[in-house]
Amino acid sequence: MARKKIIAGNWKMNKTPSEAKALVELLAPLVQNDDVDVVYCVPAIDIVPVVESVKGSNVAVGAENMYVEESGAYTGEIAPAMLVDAGVKYVIIGHSERREYFKEDDAFLNKKVLKAFEHGLTPILCCGETLEQRESGVTLDWIRLQIKSDMQGVTAEQAASMVIAYEPIWAIGTGKTATADQAEEVCKAIRECIAEIYDTDTAEKIRIQYGGSMNAGNCKELLAKPDIDGGLIGGASLKADFGEIVNYNK
Ligand code: 13P
Repeated sequence: MARKKIIAGNWKMNKTPSEAKALVELLAPLVQNDDVDVVYCVPAIDIVPVVESVKGSNVAVGAENMYVEESGAYTGEIAPAMLVDAGVKYVIIGHSERREYFKEDDAFLNKKVLKAFEHGLTPILCCGETLEQRESGVTLDWIRLQIKSDMQGVTAEQAASMVIAYEPIWAIGTGKTATADQAEEVCKAIRECIAEIYDTDTAEKIRIQYGGSMNAGNCKELLAKPDIDGGLIGGASLKADFGEIVNYNK
């Protein structure tokens, strides 16, 4: 069975609650496409108003982060049960910005992945190499290491249901998109890695997104590749262009 494409916006640290509602309203008529799963991953403070605003539509809501404990003295953190209760379905884990600025390492991210599954949240697990790593030829080794470390203890059934986002760090917010062939090479390698850890059935089911300066102009070519099952979109998810990406096949 063909995998359904999944197009997710990562709003990052943008949009106040009232701006968030306005953006959802702007996008509402533009993001209708039954062939695609559409997700808005929004800042924690926007979750409640955005869940309310997308009610009755085809859009699901994701969080950009969560903590690994159930509750308690963790000032400033958000528990998985809070996300679930608020209506969140997806959670981004291991975005390169969190790895870099907040020093989240693979052992910690592995805990987050497991915790997300415990609560029925679908992880969107991010991986990606730096320009230096690409230039020194270690991209595929690095990505495999990230995937294997972050997915320790994940069952085949869980893996089949999750999303991995391949986001080359040098392509994020830079306007320098990976070529469709570069993106496909890594997404294919990720699928092979999943087949190695689990089996081919799991590898055929898991959805792998590309992220990094994806926009209305380059999405068609990227999404035409056999191992690219969607996109994780930053800048272009904050404007009408997102609707064009969601409707890449129209
Ligand atoms: P841009 O689309 O702004 O490059 O961001 C990509 C990204 O980091 C999505 O998570």
